[in-house]
Amino acid sequence: MHNVTLIKGDGIGPSIMDVAVKIIDATGVKINWEEAEAGMAAFDKYGTPIPDKTLASIDKNRIAFKGPLTTPIGGGFRSINVALRQKYDLYANIRPAKIWKGAQTKFDNVDIVIVRENTEGLYMGLEHYLTRQKDVAESLAVITKEGSERIVEYAFKYAKENGRKKVTACHKANILKLTSGLFLDTAKEVARRYPEIEFDEKIVDATCMHMIMDPSQFDVVVTTNMFGDILSDLTAGLVGGLGLIPGANIGADAALFEAVHGSAPDIAGKNIANPTAVIMAGVMLLNHLGEPIAANQIKTAVEKVVEQGDSVTPDLNPGSKAGTIEMGNAIIAAL
Ligand SMILES: NC(=O)c1ccc[n+]([C@@H]2O[C@H](COP(=O)([O-])OP(=O)(O)OC[C@H]3O[C@@H](n4cnc5c(N)ncnc54)[C@H](O)[C@@H]3O)[C@@H](O)[C@H]2O)c1
Repeated sequence: MHNVTLIKGDGIGPSIMDVAVKIIDATGVKINWEEAEAGMAAFDKYGTPIPDKTLASIDKNRIAFKGPLTTPIGGGFRSINVALRQKYDLYANIRPAKIWKGAQTKFDNVDIVIVRENTEGLYMGLEHYLTRQKDVAESLAVITKEGSERIVEYAFKYAKENGRKKVTACHKANILKLTSGLFLDTAKEVARRYPEIEFDEKIVDATCMHMIMDPSQFDVVVTTNMFGDILSDLTAGLVGGLGLIPGANIGADAALFEAVHGSAPDIAGKNIANPTAVIMAGVMLLNHLGEPIAANQIKTAVEKVVEQGDSVTPDLNPGSKAGTIEMGNAIIAAL
């Protein structure tokens, strides 16, 4: 029996997480889902977006399966996603984007894994006003050699273990000479330890252009926190949308699995959210738990349903009458 903290999240979170949990349970793998609350819903109920009980559950289980959490824009509380990644030192955020047969996209040659540094950079939240009138604000990005080394090491090890051929370090070292420069210099050092894996480096703006012109030139892309956040949404766009991209947040002694997308308030409560991204996050979770057979069963079933196209959510097939629940049922039937 595995113990996993389950956070259903905000917006579309509960509906897609219910589907994902039902599918994982249908494989027969025994998971004790310990449900805990976080995000906007928890804030409204308890006055805190991350109650102590939730942290105690993650402290104990060290593995969490999480739906998207709403973060207020501008003011309000800080992102709980960012806070959890920092608290449990979940330094590696793995976000694979691959072409799905049946999903509408302009490309046929995308198979990119973004390895995003998850604890440093501009997302540390070190910002403040410089004037009393609050008309000048400053934000600090902290990059360390240790943080850069472990994320680039992770990317090369991932490449080696998963039969990948190339790692691209994405940076902005031409302008941010010290912070991004330190990341790039460290990446070059680590790359020398892996002569069997091709290495190259690209400036982030050029990376965006190259990814859209010819995504096939990218394999594993390792980068700092904010660039990884942005590039993984870009790769989602290449393969058919945010509903398809899972993410694993991995640390030395804890891991959290979630979709790349957010709580999608624009489609919440309509039974149209695509559950694929959280289901595939569930596949990453099962692999992490040492349950590769169940993981592959689910992956194959999801691929079949997406390819057939008649029981998928409207983002994948605007003509489909199916919603989140129906797509989940079709995946269970295909298991
Ligand atoms: N890891 C997380 O929990 C996480 C990640 C990103 C954003 N957020 C939060 O989510 C909230 C909404 O953010 P946003 O609107 O910028 O991004 P979003 O990812 O929620 O939505 C962007 C667009 O993609 C669509 N979309 C997202 N997921 C989908 C799915 N499963 N199926 C079909 N369409 C889907 C939405 O309808 C929307 O049009 C914000 O509060 C943000 O902070 C949370």
